[in-house]
Amino acid sequence: MPFDPAVIRASFAVVERRADHLVTYFYAHLFAHNPGFRPLFPAELSEQRDRLFAALTQIVLRLESAEQLTAYLGALGRDHRKFQAAPEHYPAVGASLIAAVRHFSGHSWTPEIEKAWTEAYTVISQVMLEAARSVPVEAPAWWEAEVTSRHRSAPDVVRLTLRPDRPYPFLSGQYLSLCSPRRPRVWRPYSIANAPRGDGTLELHIRRVPDGLLSTVLVNDLVPGERLLIGPPVGDAVLDPHSPRPLLAVAGGTGWAQIRSLVEQRAAWAGPAPPARATVFLAARDDADQYDLDTVRELVAGHAWLEVVLAAPADGADREEAIRLLHDGLSRHGPGRYGGWAGHDIRLSGPPDLAPGIARLLLGLGAEPGLIRHDPVPPTFNRTRPLTSSDWFLDQRNVPWINRTDLG
Ligand SMILES: Cc1cc2nc3c(=O)[nH]c(=O)nc-3n(C[C@H](O)[C@H](O)[C@H](O)COP(=O)(O)OP(=O)(O)OC[C@H]3O[C@@H](n4cnc5c(N)ncnc54)[C@H](O)[C@@H]3O)c2cc1C
Ligand code: HEM
Repeated sequence: MPFDPAVIRASFAVVERRADHLVTYFYAHLFAHNPGFRPLFPAELSEQRDRLFAALTQIVLRLESAEQLTAYLGALGRDHRKFQAAPEHYPAVGASLIAAVRHFSGHSWTPEIEKAWTEAYTVISQVMLEAARSVPVEAPAWWEAEVTSRHRSAPDVVRLTLRPDRPYPFLSGQYLSLCSPRRPRVWRPYSIANAPRGDGTLELHIRRVPDGLLSTVLVNDLVPGERLLIGPPVGDAVLDPHSPRPLLAVAGGTGWAQIRSLVEQRAAWAGPAPPARATVFLAARDDADQYDLDTVRELVAGHAWLEVVLAAPADGADREEAIRLLHDGLSRHGPGRYGGWAGHDIRLSGPPDLAPGIARLLLGLGAEPGLIRHDPVPPTFNRTRPLTSSDWFLDQRNVPWINRTDLG
């Protein structure tokens, strides 16, 4: 590794508390020096909505585990073709990243730190660009897909069926990014909720997030017949269909989409013996929020190897109660009946804080780290070191919860 990760971590610790200002400065610098870049980005850019800058800084900080990041960065580079990001854009983005960190570092900034950031950014952009270059020219950067049906399945959740305009090869467990002409250039990731189908259609489960740019439009306004753009399939929380290991899947809210796709893949199993056992924990904020139960019942009725445990507290309980139920269920159900979660393939899907918390719990219940997988948790800035106590008081943020219905 050409740079010292400790230098970057120490440097970022100095500026992280000013994350909001850093993001503003980064985009102001980028667009002032490169006015031609503005049309590539969504109209609404803010610290809450920023995705690029948050991801960039988090990737730089995690570069020590470069091998693990290579696959992710490669997919990101290929996926960036949908943003129309070209090789000549990369140095400009790097320059604005470094300008922003330098600006807020004050006297602590040194040539050694600048060198470390520059080298780290160079490594990242090389991997992304190399991957983007390796995509055959004829491969689409995005697909057009027609919305063929839209069902409201819970107060804040719709299930959409899309028909892509060209074949859309994907693996069960992957996700795609989606953009509506109603919200130009706003792309958001959503899990594909089905295993590949003969008719090529895709199902997505979308929850309306309070004030969310894209999800509110998809849940409130979208009508069948409309066309959406979808990026290439991404994500490696897939499952070997021939795995002899039992599966434990934990889903919170619309995290069910990804798990359903994996269960459907197992149900389509055509081997001589039945597939290995699958246990699915399905957590919702409350009863009204447990959606797609008809499909759950149908899958359970048709497949003896499948067990689904629903975890939803009484209406009006807070989300902590849902998490407590899930923890209780996983603790009592596993060890008591099967001798712990050792030897299980484990897939976790749901709101950003679900996977890391459940993974920690399961590791204490016998699960093997190498068998646990989930999609990347969206980057956020670490707000645990506020500038002053009044900052802390004024600036607390809730952890997002896809199931959060009381704000809708
Ligand atoms: C790998 C992956 C797969 C995903 N799969 C699904 C899926 O299958 N179904 C689904 O509905 N969503 C899924 N999401 C979340 C989805 O990508 C969007 O983040 C979500 O729809 C909000 O987008 P928005 O444009 O409406 O909100 P934004 O405009 O981006 O955000 C508005 C505000 O809400 C906050 N916020 C963002 N996300 C959430 C959240 N989930 N809960 C509460 N507050 C939030 C933001 O911090 C911001 O303050 C997935 C995310 C990832 C990373
Ligand atoms: C090494 C460099 C880069 C990294 C690590 C990076 C990373 C990311 C990530 C993780 C996202 C969010 C992905 C998503 O929501 O689908 C993103 C969004 C985006 N990136 Fe990049 N990116 C890089 C360089 C670039 C460049 C050079 C451009 C071109 C100008 C670019 C343009 C965009 C755009 C337009 C978005 C959408 C922004 C938004 O929705 O707010 N990125 N980037």
